Amino acid sequence: MTKVGFFKQTIHDLPLGHGKHHRVLLRVDYNVPLRDGKVSDDLRIRASIPTLEYLLDKGCSLVLMSHLGRPEGHDLSCSLEPAAKRLEELLKRKVIFVDDTAGDAAYQAVRNAPQGSIVMFQNVRFDKREEEDSEEYAEEIAHAAQADYFVQDAFGVVHRAHSSTRAITEFLPSVAGLLIEREYEVINGAMEDPKKPLVAILGGAKVSDKIKVVERFVEIADTILVGGAMANTFLDYKGVHMGASKVEEGQKSTLDSIYEAARKKVGDKVDEFLVLPIDLAVTTEVKENAKRHNQHLDKIKSDEMALDIGDESIEKYTSIISNAKTVIWNGPLGMSELDEFAHGSARVALAMATRPEIQSIVGGGDTADFVLKWDAKEGKSFSHVSTGGGASLDLMSGKKLPGVECLLDRGK
Ligand code: ADP
Ligand code: 3PG
Ligand code: MG
Repeated sequence: MTKVGFFKQTIHDLPLGHGKHHRVLLRVDYNVPLRDGKVSDDLRIRASIPTLEYLLDKGCSLVLMSHLGRPEGHDLSCSLEPAAKRLEELLKRKVIFVDDTAGDAAYQAVRNAPQGSIVMFQNVRFDKREEEDSEEYAEEIAHAAQADYFVQDAFGVVHRAHSSTRAITEFLPSVAGLLIEREYEVINGAMEDPKKPLVAILGGAKVSDKIKVVERFVEIADTILVGGAMANTFLDYKGVHMGASKVEEGQKSTLDSIYEAARKKVGDKVDEFLVLPIDLAVTTEVKENAKRHNQHLDKIKSDEMALDIGDESIEKYTSIISNAKTVIWNGPLGMSELDEFAHGSARVALAMATRPEIQSIVGGGDTADFVLKWDAKEGKSFSHVSTGGGASLDLMSGKKLPGVECLLDRGK
């Protein structure tokens, strides 16, 4: 893969240091899961550290802002304080947390913080103007932060145009952080100039959520492996009796056009290009200890539901993966929350992770959650585990992300 240059200015372009002190307002995505008041998965916090360290090394003072969850008003169950604590542990430095998003307490906390310190404001979504992309709110944040620059590094949320991702760039010179740069370089690099063969693995819940990604992969991939409930919908379209499986209704015209595009590309080799399961793992009840049972496509009974690809399909998919040079994976191949139906996802993960010659990219909220739980090396067995759910899907679809588009262009 040749490096696809990033099209926006980054922190490397800022005239920091040189004996001068700067204050930087940094948007991070610390929308992390909490359990018993503590952060239970800190991938996103760890992913922000290179940018923080770069800025701290340049002698900057930092003001951090993020959202967490989807609170309605000042709901302390969505407080960012646990994220501030976890950041403190990771950086081994004090993080001054202030329970205010943009008011006088936030302003005073910044004023009183010593040079080179880190202040974290409370959850930006405690103010409902955030999601309205309010310029008034963005201006209040910029005023409280008293910053010279705005740095956007919250990759997971740049598909949203909110005050802290879009409007804020009206008030401060705004550039990208290192996480955003890396997500773009790796994902766009693999999409635009992959080492071939490029195999895409597409699974998850719905065809309609991922139609743009499917279309893009029909254009660029050498093989597409379909799994999860998405495969149920494809198989139903092909006339397979899917019993009680989850099948998305109303997808006929979408699938007609996907198959038309695939036929245009590969002629009569469509079924080798757009690969569907040849067997499925079924059960009659979704429950913790439900047993998987392999079933051929013509044998699915009315009360059976397919919750994973079957064992023969697993062999077929992993053998295709073993010949790939680039694999991009979005969407679990089954109901991977249940161990019995995580076999497909686990074996695909293993096939990618044990072959260092494969450039392996994992995107999608549930897919990333799965590989992080599966991988004892916290995701490092893969070339890249994206910190974005919706944002990585949009980037893979070729959409423009509003929180990145509004940053300063390269060369300006
Ligand atoms: P991502 O967040 O990685 O983009 P999705 O949200 O599209 O992935 O899909 C994940 C969800 O799909 C999970 O909740 C999983 O249980 C569900 N799922 C996958 N396969 C099946 C299946 N065969 N039947 C029902 N649900 C499934
Ligand atoms: C995410 O977790 O996908 C991002 O943090 C965005 O969160 P949202 O879907 O609540 O906007
Ligand atoms: Mg999901």
